[in-house]
Amino acid sequence: MLSFGLCIAALVTIFVSYWVHRWRNPRCNGVLPPGSMGLPLLGETLHLLIPGRSLDMHPFLKKRIQRYGTIFRTSLAGRPVVVSADAEFNHNIFLQEGRSVELWYLDTFSKLFNQDGESRTNGVGSVHRFVRSIVLNHFGPERLKEKMLSQIEEMVDKTLHNWSSQSAIEVKHAVSTMVFDFTAKYMFSYDPEKSSEKVGENMGVLLKGLMSFPLNIPGTEFHKCMKAQKKVMSLIKEKMKEKRSSPEAYQGDLLDQAIKEMETETFLTEDFVIPFIFGALFASFESISSALTLAFGLLSEHPLVVEELMAENNAILKSRGENVDSPFTWDEYRSMSFTPQVVNEILRLSNVAPGLLRRSLKEIHANGYTIPAGWTIMLATSAQQLDPNTFKDPLVFNPWRWKELDANVISKNYMPFGGGMRQCAGAEYSKAFMAAFLHVVVTKYRWTKIKGGDISRTPFLDFGKGMHIKVSAKA
Ligand code: HEM
Repeated sequence: MLSFGLCIAALVTIFVSYWVHRWRNPRCNGVLPPGSMGLPLLGETLHLLIPGRSLDMHPFLKKRIQRYGTIFRTSLAGRPVVVSADAEFNHNIFLQEGRSVELWYLDTFSKLFNQDGESRTNGVGSVHRFVRSIVLNHFGPERLKEKMLSQIEEMVDKTLHNWSSQSAIEVKHAVSTMVFDFTAKYMFSYDPEKSSEKVGENMGVLLKGLMSFPLNIPGTEFHKCMKAQKKVMSLIKEKMKEKRSSPEAYQGDLLDQAIKEMETETFLTEDFVIPFIFGALFASFESISSALTLAFGLLSEHPLVVEELMAENNAILKSRGENVDSPFTWDEYRSMSFTPQVVNEILRLSNVAPGLLRRSLKEIHANGYTIPAGWTIMLATSAQQLDPNTFKDPLVFNPWRWKELDANVISKNYMPFGGGMRQCAGAEYSKAFMAAFLHVVVTKYRWTKIKGGDISRTPFLDFGKGMHIKVSAKA
């Protein structure tokens, strides 16, 4: 009996050792990038979840890039991953979209953005064309030129006026609500004044939930996140019902166009349109609000930048002569040089996410390494944007650096909106939104930081207990 027991123990030990060995040395028809697969099953996931406490790139990336170079292997969320901060490699991966690689996000993303799997987050062909064109149609340059830019200006002024009547505001929360309300208005004619629940005020839980363990039971971050998601989804669903039952509810928003196209496009079902609008809304308000919150922190510490911003934006008001209160126009926006550099610098430093994810559809050979088919590839654009070889003193907030940077260097190393055929469809809107926001802030208001503003990377950009400021109107 004892020898039988010993035999079983020996077999289990052999099996476990073999399994651990296989885990650490995944099969590959070539040389894998250097790195470690971490512990069986867990991989190195926990290392990524330990927050970094500064604006610098997440320590997970920094330590491994120092140790292994710009391309390394790891394992995250149970998947083998190759992380790359190599500009040429990443540029080529963007060009390989749909051929050697496809868009792929973690399981929590799939759960948040669609209910039954991954198929919709990586929509290809006509689905992808629909997503791009509908977002560009409602948030692209043409819309901005028509009147959207001046509507952003008007809304920002109203919001800041409201903030100035309060003893203090928490920036991330206040800006998120502002961006949510405005963007949701263009997406499905959401009106917070008429809504029984101000959903925009409760969206902070979404990002936290994304990086949490997907355990949907009361009390967990993931549960709160899914609850908030449900609320927004049912709001969109209600709007859809209203619009479909009464043609008077047609207001020319993004949802109206989607409903119209549902008549002819078979993939456009209610189950597709609602999560898609939710996803686009989330992408927009979370990233713009994080970038603008960081902007307040950075500008508070850099009065010379504020001075130059004021000079450029006040010159615009002056150039209007007697019509000083006329709306902010597309031509005025395009005439600016320093303000867009400030926007670029904020986006370079904010790096809301550590990188973009893809999955290899076939074996990929690059830099002497082989990436097996089915592996996840993380394009660590955040590390590229903080690379001292491209951006001297990368952690210094220096908008003037953009005067000297070469366009070719920028195109391969600065990718806040991704690249290739999946480049952000809301990029123009986001940059114009941020510029219009800065325009209103520096010409009409001043602010003082009261408390908070601690930054961490969780690995998403996070403001901990928030940044509290007092806003006042200029005399
Ligand atoms: C500062 C603000 C924003 C940042 C930093 C940002 C960043 C990004 C990035 C990096 C991607 C590419 C993802 C990938 O390749 O895996 C992307 C895609 C996308 N973004 Fe944004 N985004 C922002 C705002 C917006 C806004 C406001 C909208 C909508 C109004 C939007 C809609 C989209 C859409 C639809 C895609 C998918 C494009 C495609 O697959 O062709 N984004 N965004």
